[in-house]
Amino acid sequence: MWRRSRQRMALVTCALSVFLLVYYLQGDSSSVPFLSLFNFTTPPAHRLFLASLPTVVLQQLSAADASHRRRRELLKEVCRSHTKKKRVLIPEDLGHLIVDDEHRLLYCYVPKVACTNWKRVLMVLTGKSQHSDPLKIPANEAHVPGNLRTLSEYPTSEINHRLRTYLKFVFVREPFERLVSAYRNKFTRSYNSAFHKRYGTKIIRRHRANPQPEALQRGSDVSFEEFVYYLVDPRTQSEEPFNEHWERIHSLCHPCLIHYDVVGKYETLEQDSRYVLQLAGVDSRVQFPATGKRARTTGDMAAQFFHKISPFYQRKLYNLYRMDFLLFNYSVPSYLTLR
Ligand SMILES: *[C@@H]1O[C@H](CO)[C@@H](O)[C@H](O)[C@H]1NC(C)=O
Repeated sequence: MWRRSRQRMALVTCALSVFLLVYYLQGDSSSVPFLSLFNFTTPPAHRLFLASLPTVVLQQLSAADASHRRRRELLKEVCRSHTKKKRVLIPEDLGHLIVDDEHRLLYCYVPKVACTNWKRVLMVLTGKSQHSDPLKIPANEAHVPGNLRTLSEYPTSEINHRLRTYLKFVFVREPFERLVSAYRNKFTRSYNSAFHKRYGTKIIRRHRANPQPEALQRGSDVSFEEFVYYLVDPRTQSEEPFNEHWERIHSLCHPCLIHYDVVGKYETLEQDSRYVLQLAGVDSRVQFPATGKRARTTGDMAAQFFHKISPFYQRKLYNLYRMDFLLFNYSVPSYLTLR
């Protein structure tokens, strides 16, 4: 008896959450709040804030506003033409959405796209750190699970409320530059031995002919080619989801199901970050850290890495990341020899 009623409860909860998430999806996506400076859907608090801005700032915001609207429209169009059936969001899809309840923000973090700095900014905003300068927060602290809350931790009704009313943003990057950046960081740095053990040993076992015993044991000298073989091998994804560092952005952040207000780009990180902070009305409280002269993975560098990959595997890899190229308006890199 008790068991039956528990089962029924579970069923009702389940049905309810599906209903609620569907409800969110059916909601008119054009009523996306906040953006469109002169839109009537702009909530009163934000309208008040916008009215207080100097004209020159308002003009800059308005220009940025137009370009971000074009990005959203293109994304919507690609979603419409490339996704067959709308599926429903489940809480497990929302593990990458960081919540700031005080400022009503949802940020979908994507590794290798300045996510450490955005997490630092959110730690300052949510009061999880004593520092007011994000750069004073050690990088490892920004990644401690539990320092920041994710949307998947909330009950369904709370999830829906936040999805409908908070400012939602994500930062994206050219997919192959992100991939090369992940490879260099995780497989060519000796301090990342955990990745070598976890992934490197498997990659070498499967994708290297006659590996040395030491390489098999340490997994610390994976080549970019071997990494590519691993990514396009059907066994890889059938065994477990990709690690978040090379998982596709559309699988991490579900941009066809979650209507992001801002799709920021790594290529225009400074402007786009400033834009988000201005929209959120917190640009006087916190500044996005300046990127300085860090060594960055550029298109030229990606070209060098892809030079060694055969056209056959280039094509396979492009197909794997194709949706990220299309959704975020990145063109096929000119260094590829696809045909
Ligand atoms: C897409 O990219 C092209 C070339 O980089 C650019 O000219 C165009 O404005 C972009 N479109 C959108 C909607 O951002």
